[in-house]
Amino acid sequence: MKPLILLFFVCLLHISYGNSEVKLQNVFSAESLKKLYEALESSELRSDSSSVSPSSTAVINDYADNVISQVQSLIVEKGLDTVETPDAQLSFKRKFALITYKGSLKLTEGSVASVSSIKRDGDVVASYSNKYLSIQVPLRYDVLDVNYKYRAQIMKIHQTGRVIGKASSTTLKVDVGLNLTNLVVDLKEFALEDIGNIKLSFKGNKIDDWLLKIITNGLVPSFKGTIKKVVNEKLYDAVVTVVESLNKELHG
Ligand SMILES: *[C@@H]1O[C@H](CO)[C@@H](O)[C@H](O)[C@H]1NC(C)=O
Repeated sequence: MKPLILLFFVCLLHISYGNSEVKLQNVFSAESLKKLYEALESSELRSDSSSVSPSSTAVINDYADNVISQVQSLIVEKGLDTVETPDAQLSFKRKFALITYKGSLKLTEGSVASVSSIKRDGDVVASYSNKYLSIQVPLRYDVLDVNYKYRAQIMKIHQTGRVIGKASSTTLKVDVGLNLTNLVVDLKEFALEDIGNIKLSFKGNKIDDWLLKIITNGLVPSFKGTIKKVVNEKLYDAVVTVVESLNKELHG
């Protein structure tokens, strides 16, 4: 059995038995499973008769870390730790002393690095209610790097070089559910919550200050858009793949 399945059974046991430790190797013994179902049944009865606390919850950080490390490996295996990103072009306009200067910025050879560096951002909470287990997983990237070659043109001036944008603290909310009636796992929510500040650094030619300011204004939103796309496509795919493989394991 894969650790993912252990995750679900172990969190059920944690919910059923509160803080008492359950050894992994005992999880699948007939006796453990019998106790598990008895405990689930009685916890359901408690739920039904109590209007104050209709569900039980448990913190399952160790097991969540195990699953997250599988998501990380999957991203690396698929060659998606560094994702190439499409070329982009931004145009800008700026007024100096009654004259409006127009220019453009071409971005090529782009990539986002360290896509596998996703980690848990606080407690992972499992709640059980009406034969349904809901697991909230807060996730975070400490740093995500966006790297592009740029070519800036304003009137007849050209400047080229590389620009690296470091995004601090990108946070996500993921919610996974397990229906205990039919043992179907589904991804109920995958939401990119926040992309932190983006700090730009330029490599290559020294860039003029006034151009730097114009470029920065255009680059920050563009880099945020790039990060959003990479997380919503590549990380999302990895999470969906893990959920699918869990369903395959559960249903043979
Ligand atoms: C769980 O699955 C059963 C059987 O397919 C279904 O009737 C029930 O509505 C599902 N529960 C939830 C919360 O989706």
